Amino acid sequence: MIAIYRKYRPKKLEDVLGQETIVEILKNAGRLDKLAHAYLFYGPRGSGKTTTARLIAKIANCEKRQKDEKFKELGEPCNVCKPCQEIDGGKSLDVIEIDAASNRGIDEIRNLKEGIKFAPTSSKYKVYIIDEAHQLTKEAFNALLKTLEEPPEHAIFILATTETEKMPSTIISRTQRFHFKKLPLLKIVEKLKSICDEEKIKADDDALDLIAASAEGSFRDAESLLDQIASLEEKIGIESVENILGRVGFSKTAEFADILTEKNIEKALNYLSKINEGGYNLTQFNKDLIHYLRRTLALKFAPTLENEFKKELTDAELKLLKNHSHKIDADKIISLIKSLIRAYTEMRYSPFAIVPLEIAIIENLK
Ligand SMILES: Nc1ncnc2c1ncn2[C@@H]1O[C@H](COP(=O)(O)OP(=O)(O)OP(=O)(O)O)[C@@H](O)[C@H]1O
Ligand SMILES: [Mg+2]
Ligand SMILES: [Zn+2]
Repeated sequence: MIAIYRKYRPKKLEDVLGQETIVEILKNAGRLDKLAHAYLFYGPRGSGKTTTARLIAKIANCEKRQKDEKFKELGEPCNVCKPCQEIDGGKSLDVIEIDAASNRGIDEIRNLKEGIKFAPTSSKYKVYIIDEAHQLTKEAFNALLKTLEEPPEHAIFILATTETEKMPSTIISRTQRFHFKKLPLLKIVEKLKSICDEEKIKADDDALDLIAASAEGSFRDAESLLDQIASLEEKIGIESVENILGRVGFSKTAEFADILTEKNIEKALNYLSKINEGGYNLTQFNKDLIHYLRRTLALKFAPTLENEFKKELTDAELKLLKNHSHKIDADKIISLIKSLIRAYTEMRYSPFAIVPLEIAIIENLK
């Protein structure tokens, strides 16, 4: 079975989720045959940079586009012609992927400088995709710069990086730049759901919510995790996701926050002990708790922040938070958050992570 994240890599620009502006601009460029010679894609991991780079390679070389004016209007690759298929299969001689992270690109850039002079073997364009471009050495950057200053007509460069601030400005200024956005939780959940439908994977909603939350905006991480859990479980429930991640889901965090708000020390300490016994990562639990409480507090004073929180939470989660925010006493929550943050730094280096957390809770609830 092939990995889910490979199988569900978008085959068309239309399927690239959450990057609407980029998709629109590139479709237009495809329609008008106005692809740039150099692009810089930057943004968080798993947000579609490599995927989009390969789509550009297909659009540039798709044969159907060259023959069929009407089809070209779509600004998409056909995925059927030989170049499209070769690129999808990673077999195209004219699409060269360079991973700058592996050996910092010295040999590759040298080869690139040599090879770029020659026309593409079987397609229209030679497309160089340089991943993790910020990792190139100074020499490699210099060599690349020369090429970017006067790229041959048949060449397209796509540099992809998660750390644009490490890229030399001389290189940046010679590219058309696209900022890939971190994906909102809801988009990730939606894609996971459609993959589950397609693959006949049974999964509970809260389980998918937790998978998506733990991916922190990366489609790839979410899809890999889904893959991993689906191979272990008949039906994916919240418990199995919690176990594999060592992290509890939103509803347990909310439940605990509620106990704290009620000032029930005994119940709180018992709950905490259960979390600890369950083998969950307490530092992560505290982090989730801090985020939860911080959000209730923020919503109390700035209800419009709801729009921001929507990117990271599901509707049901948001509703729970809002209800909670009406109940809290701001001063008490502020002091609780402060203690939890102190506990957090202590926990990370402590051989007994539970102690700082217990102390913080007792201090505040006693
Ligand atoms: N915007 C997106 N829409 C739909 N699926 C996506 C998107 N971004 C990523 N994916 C999924 O995640 C997988 C990995 O994406 P991709 O390799 O394009 O990420 P990336 O931005 O290049 O990440 P990295 O910086 O780690 O290289 C894809 O195969 C696809 O299944
Ligand atoms: Mg990539
Ligand atoms: Zn094609």
